[in-house]
Amino acid sequence: MGGREHRPHPAPSGLPSDSDLVRAARGLPVSRTPVWFMRQAGRSLPEYRALRAGTAMLAACQDPDLVTEITLQPVRRHQVDAAILFSDIVLPLLVAGVDLDIKPGIGPVIASPIRSPADVDALPPLEPERLAFLDTAVRRLVAELGPTPLIGFAGAPFTLATYLIEGGPSKEHARTKAFMYAEPEAWGRLLDRLAVSAATFLRAQVDAGASAVQLFDSWAGVLSAADYAERVLPHSRAVFDGLGERDVPRIHFGVGTGELLPLIGDAGADVVGVDWRIPLDEAARRVGPRRSLQGNLDPAVLLSDRATVDREVRRVVEQGRAARGHVFNLGHGVLPDTDPGVLTHVVELVHELSTR
Ligand code: CP3
Repeated sequence: MGGREHRPHPAPSGLPSDSDLVRAARGLPVSRTPVWFMRQAGRSLPEYRALRAGTAMLAACQDPDLVTEITLQPVRRHQVDAAILFSDIVLPLLVAGVDLDIKPGIGPVIASPIRSPADVDALPPLEPERLAFLDTAVRRLVAELGPTPLIGFAGAPFTLATYLIEGGPSKEHARTKAFMYAEPEAWGRLLDRLAVSAATFLRAQVDAGASAVQLFDSWAGVLSAADYAERVLPHSRAVFDGLGERDVPRIHFGVGTGELLPLIGDAGADVVGVDWRIPLDEAARRVGPRRSLQGNLDPAVLLSDRATVDREVRRVVEQGRAARGHVFNLGHGVLPDTDPGVLTHVVELVHELSTR
């Protein structure tokens, strides 16, 4: 194990459901602004690279010992206010039986991409019984984390559809959009199925003790607001609806979603994640007073000098005060070259600037 001792900032009740993260997500008063980082578990940490050596990404995601340890690493090191489960958005597809891999430095690659309505109908469903490893990992994590909340997550239907249709990462997502326009019925069936499996994946995590969930619609920003509203949002809403009465805050995030921010909230989020392109005070105007915000330091700022980092962190904390509640985060994931010491410093600075 090694590293610093894990010293969480305890909620008055000592329960993760009463932590600053959950409270900020609900728009309740906090002792200080909670902070965590998308991709906090990963290649910026030498202890992660050491532990992952010799194990493929998707194998690591199904090993409860590795999942537990990798998820805890950034919590111990940076004293962040939340853990996020070490997993991947494509894992439910793999577990369901889709032939795919995560290639280092590239991302998810699908062996037989979806190119026709028949391919959509051949997509295997995710059987909840196949998620026993996840139940084990989450229960172990929740026991280890004590008062620190665990965030469970899933990929939103649109973003998963981009990987399935493109066959791998892509910039324009042109094949995805072409399929959406040319095959509207098959498109609807595909996103329906992906919503069902995302909801199954989230329910497994919440039922094992996760205190909040984040739905990643990373690439939704490539769509117009009209297309998003009509052809995507109802399926994202179905994922959140699939949580039923489970009383955990729901975070919804995408990149480049400035024009979609009001709609993203409407999909059923308590917290809207914002990238660095829009200041949080403007994002608060677009999202409205009934939702909290998460974000939005540009991850590239962490590669610059300390004075710039400090200035930008102050700006984000300041602009975040316009929101109903603010969860400090980056505008997208930690870049692999980030000095982990800078991440620890950001956590300390956000806490210092926001202590009530
Ligand atoms: O945030 C965390 O620390 C929790 C773990 C997590 C991972 N992926 C681990 C991972 C989370 C929340 C994700 C979500 C994810 N995966 C998203 C949505 C978030 C986002 O970044 O927009 C997406 C689009 C994916 C698909 C994916 N998986 C990509 C694009 C990549 C990166 C490819 C690369 O190597 O640059 C992956 C691989 C991946 N997922 C890694 C990690 C730690 C790197 C794999 C490795 O360490 O070998």
